Amino acid sequence: MPRLALSPVPPERADADLLVLPVAAGEGGPVAPPVTAAVLGRLGADLAAVAGGAGRFTGQLDDVLLLPGYGAVAAPAVLLVGVGPDGQRSPETLRRAAAVAVAAAGKAATLAVALHRAGGPDGAALAAVAEGTLLAAYRFQRHKSAPDPDLAAVTLLVDGEGSLDAAGPVLRRAEVAARATLAARDLVNEPASRINPATLAAEAVRLARAAGLEHRVLAGSALRRGRFGAVVAVGGGSATGPRLVELRYRPGSGSRSGSLGAARHVALVGKGVTFDTGGIDLKRGAGMDGMKDDMAGAAAILAAITAAAELGLPTAVTAILPLVENMPGASAMRPGDVVTARNGLTVEVTNTDAEGRLILADGLALAAEARPDAILDLATLTGSVVYGLGLGCVGVFGNTPALTAEVLDAAGRAGELACELPLIEDYRRFLDSEVADLVNATNEPGDSVQAALFLREFVAGVPWAHLDIAGPATAKEARYYQPKGASGWGVRTLLAFLEGPR
Ligand code: BES
Ligand code: MN
Ligand code: ZN
Repeated sequence: MPRLALSPVPPERADADLLVLPVAAGEGGPVAPPVTAAVLGRLGADLAAVAGGAGRFTGQLDDVLLLPGYGAVAAPAVLLVGVGPDGQRSPETLRRAAAVAVAAAGKAATLAVALHRAGGPDGAALAAVAEGTLLAAYRFQRHKSAPDPDLAAVTLLVDGEGSLDAAGPVLRRAEVAARATLAARDLVNEPASRINPATLAAEAVRLARAAGLEHRVLAGSALRRGRFGAVVAVGGGSATGPRLVELRYRPGSGSRSGSLGAARHVALVGKGVTFDTGGIDLKRGAGMDGMKDDMAGAAAILAAITAAAELGLPTAVTAILPLVENMPGASAMRPGDVVTARNGLTVEVTNTDAEGRLILADGLALAAEARPDAILDLATLTGSVVYGLGLGCVGVFGNTPALTAEVLDAAGRAGELACELPLIEDYRRFLDSEVADLVNATNEPGDSVQAALFLREFVAGVPWAHLDIAGPATAKEARYYQPKGASGWGVRTLLAFLEGPR
C-alpha cells in the first residue's frame, strides 16, 4: 500500500511525480476550483483552451487531462481529473475520481493530490479521496517473478496548518479501513494451495496477536468434543482438517471478558471454505478455480475485527470463523449423511455442495449462545443470489427489520452495494427432511431464500442479518477502485456498522 501523508504545502510547491488537481463539470464546460485555477494560472494555461472545446475534457467523472509542468510548478506534470457537476458530488464520486487519477497516473511513483474544496477540510471528501486512492492502487503480484513497481506515496494537500489537526484522524480511519480491505483481498486472491484451514487459522492468530485480540482455535478432537458436527463433516474430505477460529475484541481493554463498557456486543460469523469443489456432489470444472474465494466472508470479518481493534471502536466484537476445505476425499461426507449441529438440530446432507450453510449452522449456534445484541454473517453462500442480483450487489436477509436497516445503511455509507431480500416463510416447508430435522438443500428454485431460512434455524431468536456476498466477493473486471479479483467486500461495511449509526 502506498504511504499516505497530509501536507499544507501549496500545490505548486508539492514535490511529486504528478500533481493531481480536481476540475468540476459546469454547464458550459470544465470549471476549475480556486486550487486548480491557481496552478493553471502559473502554467499560463487557459482551461477552456487546453480542454479542447466541446467533447474533450469536460470535467465529468472519467475525464482526465495531462499537462506538462513546464518548470512552473515543482511537479513535472499535472493531471486534471474530472469530479463531475458540483450538485452531484458524493463520497462515491470522489472515490471513483481518485481511482481514475491512479489509473491515469501510469508509472508515476508519487502523487500529490489537491482537494477540491478550499478552507477547512471536508472530512467525508478527504476520507473518500484517500480510500479511493489506496483501494485503486492495489495489485496482487505476490506470485509474479517480475512485479510492476507499486505506487509508493500519495500526499493529500490540505490548505492551512490548522486543518491538518482535523484531517489527521479522518485520514487515519480511511487508511485503516483501506489497509484492512486490502488484507482481505490478499487472503482471497491467494490460491487454495496456500490458504487452507490450517494456514488461514494461523494467519488469524498472527493478526489477532498483533491487534491484541483474545483468540482460540479449535481443531481435531476439540471440534468433535465441542459438538461442531457440521464443521467436522464438511471438513472431513480434505487432507487439511477443519478449524474453528474465535476472536474477541473488547473495547477499552484487550482482556476484558464480558461486553462491559461496550455500547453493544456484535457477533460476526464468516464462511471460511478455503476451496469449494462441491465435495462428492462435485462441481463442474469450468469456473471451479473461482471457488478459492469461498472464504471471502471469513477474510472480511478477520480484517474488520482487527481494524475495529486498531481504531478502538466502542463495540464489543466476537468473530467466529468456521474454516474447512470442501473436498471429495475418502473420508468426505456423503449425500444422505446426517450431521448434528452445535445446537442439536440434525441435518440430512442432500447436497454436499451446500456446505456453507452447514458450517455456518455450527458457527451461528455458537454465536447465539453468548446472546450478543446482534449476529451478522457474511458468506459467499449461493449461486442463486448471483442470478438474482448480479455480480454487483449483496443480498441481505434479516429476522429484525431495524437491524437489517442498520446493515443497509452501513453499506450505503461505505459505498458497498447491498439490498434486502425476503425470508419467504412459505418456503420453510421445503427444508423439512424425512429422516432428520432439516435438509441442507432442495430442488426448489429460490435457493438463496431457502439458505437464509436454513441459517435462521440456528440463531436462537437473536437479532441477525445474513449477507450473501457471492456476487461482489470477486470482480470479473476492473472498475474504478475495484481491480479485477478479490474485492474485500464487507470490510468497510462492517467497520461502518461497528462504528454505529451516524
Ligand atoms: N460457494 C457456493 C456458492 C457460489 C456459487 C458462490 C457460485 C459464488 C458463485 C456454495 O457453496 C454452493 O456451491 N452453493 C450451491 C448450492 C446448491 C447445491 C443448493 C449453488 O449455489 O449451486
Ligand atoms: Mn458449495
Ligand atoms: Zn461454497
